[in-house]
Amino acid sequence: MERSLSMELVRVTEAAALASARWLGRGKKAEADDAATTAMRRVFDTIPMKGTVVIGEGEMDEAPMLYIGEKLGTGYGPRVDVAVDPLEGTNIVANGTWNALAVIAIADDGCLLHAPDMYMEKIAVGPESVGCIDLDAPVVDNLKAVAKAKNKDIEDLVAIILDRERHEKLIHEVREAGARIKLIPDGDVAAAISTAFEDTGVDILFGTGGAPEGVISAVALKCLGGELQGRLVAQNKAEMERCKKMGIEDLNQILRMDDLVKGDDAIFAATGVTDGELLKGVRFNGTSGITHSVVMRAKSGTVRFIHGTHSLKKKPNLVIK
Ligand code: FBP
Repeated sequence: MERSLSMELVRVTEAAALASARWLGRGKKAEADDAATTAMRRVFDTIPMKGTVVIGEGEMDEAPMLYIGEKLGTGYGPRVDVAVDPLEGTNIVANGTWNALAVIAIADDGCLLHAPDMYMEKIAVGPESVGCIDLDAPVVDNLKAVAKAKNKDIEDLVAIILDRERHEKLIHEVREAGARIKLIPDGDVAAAISTAFEDTGVDILFGTGGAPEGVISAVALKCLGGELQGRLVAQNKAEMERCKKMGIEDLNQILRMDDLVKGDDAIFAATGVTDGELLKGVRFNGTSGITHSVVMRAKSGTVRFIHGTHSLKKKPNLVIK
């Protein structure tokens, strides 16, 4: 992949963040999502690549989302797989709360997991705990292993978990083991990434969330030297059939880093829509939109934080009322 694609991808997430941030706190999640999707698609059209969405929010008949199989880019340049979530945290934006991101991940053609938009059970950790976790192991064993790897007591650990009824047993087990918990209303991409940044105080992510979010998080953690394991969770026969069609035979299989993101190269880009631990959200000051983004590449391990000031006068297409 061309190194220059990193910057191009930031242009895409910046545009999506600027568009969806207009909907902050307005209680309209579909409009916020739509704004992000439209902006992403428009900027993707200018990027020299032959991209195909392999995992994302919807399937062809569910347009206007960026659908699985959709071609992105100018059609010239490297062939890449795209995992995309124009707005990760639609409710977060609707409510004006924490950690909404516009995110994209790409890898060479054939390297990202090709799967339907469904649920995925996940466990994720930062670099210090790589090789210690096992999705099939009891929660307490994973916590013991992470505590040992980080030279901490279990009581010192913080697990981050989506606040969902389906996680009641998991939450109970983490508490029984003695670890502490950060329950979040939405946004498990930001949550997975937080395991790789020491100052977030988060040590491990557990729980079931979206599969696209799982692949996107795996790319981010690959760039950061962390680890994510996942397992697709089919909720009905139709989802099982869709998995089969996409070449996934064994739904019980643990998807490891090499199943989620093959090869040694991948790029992750995100722009904050609302304020979060990793990135600030968009600010508007009348003439400009200010963005905060991160872009990282697995091959080089480079992590760049980018502060963008976008002239709303010179780029009137960024002004969405
Ligand atoms: P959306 O932006 O698509 O609303 O996703 C937000 C999110 O919280 C993800 O971070 C997470 O993976 C997924 O939803 C969990 O799904 P559900 O809300 O159905 O439990």
